[in-house]
Amino acid sequence: MSQPRVFVTRILPGNALELLRESCAVRLWEGELPPPRATILQEIVDADGLLPLLTDKIDADLINAGLKLRVISNMAVGCDNIDVVAASARNIPVGYTPGVLTETSADFAFALLMAAARRIVEGERFVKAGLWQTWSPTLLLGGDIYGATLGIIGLGRIGQGMARRARGFAMRVLYYDPAANRAKAQELGVIECELDDLLRQSDYVSLHVPLKTDTYHLIGARELALMQPTAILINTARGGVVDPQALYTALKAGQIAAAALDVTEPEPIPLDDPLLTLENCLIVPHIASASHATRAKMANMAVENLLAGLRGEPMPFCFNPEVYKTGRI
Ligand code: GLV
Repeated sequence: MSQPRVFVTRILPGNALELLRESCAVRLWEGELPPPRATILQEIVDADGLLPLLTDKIDADLINAGLKLRVISNMAVGCDNIDVVAASARNIPVGYTPGVLTETSADFAFALLMAAARRIVEGERFVKAGLWQTWSPTLLLGGDIYGATLGIIGLGRIGQGMARRARGFAMRVLYYDPAANRAKAQELGVIECELDDLLRQSDYVSLHVPLKTDTYHLIGARELALMQPTAILINTARGGVVDPQALYTALKAGQIAAAALDVTEPEPIPLDDPLLTLENCLIVPHIASASHATRAKMANMAVENLLAGLRGEPMPFCFNPEVYKTGRI
């Protein structure tokens, strides 16, 4: 029997590709940048499986062009790059990589909080620009973290990780998440809040919601106006959760003190984006899960999901498990 044919949209870390090659005919896009849509289209036409990254937009037309396509396995925890509804309509399971990146991503969100609060990146720029002339009582003053109030929007796996870290800093932790596991929240000692109250009360607001229709621009001009002028917004979720124009206006006007963004809308952020002109906006290139070990685990998990799907077995981590209930897989 011939091996299933799979298209992988980037070179994967660790031994994930070797594992895949043991039982699949692998077509690999070796470019540093994502493959053009036309390439994905060309490859998907006779592929049994697709392993994309979060940078690859897999829309309904692409999915439906894959007449033999049986499995999609995303190397990401978020699946907003994939039209999951279109995949489900064709009974195609979509794999994702939850869990393995939780602690690494929460570490990073907390690192961004600390860096923005204590103005670490501004300090480094200041030194390297040759501006450090003396110790000054008022140089680069920031906000305290220990004992401050942290507002977590989205108390899923990474949001909970953020809450656990905040405990070590004696922070008062508020959360907004209508779908949260209340028992978990109680165990973590975090306080449930309406969104507006959380925004009003928090020194730091950290976003941990997936990008969906109801979270698109969840933080806009109205929400930013509720925050304190000393408050800092941290976004390691998805760029689309924050309205970038409203954020620029709020940062420029000093309506909030600073923002730290691992994600932007769009990605990469264009060089002429006004957010890049602001000293009080720290921006890094979507690297919250970027530790050696975590990225290797994500790649292996994506391959394991893909292989299980190709064997017709339930994926260990499936984003649309409803496809298994149709009895047509
Ligand atoms: C990263 O943002 C992911 O979704 O894995």
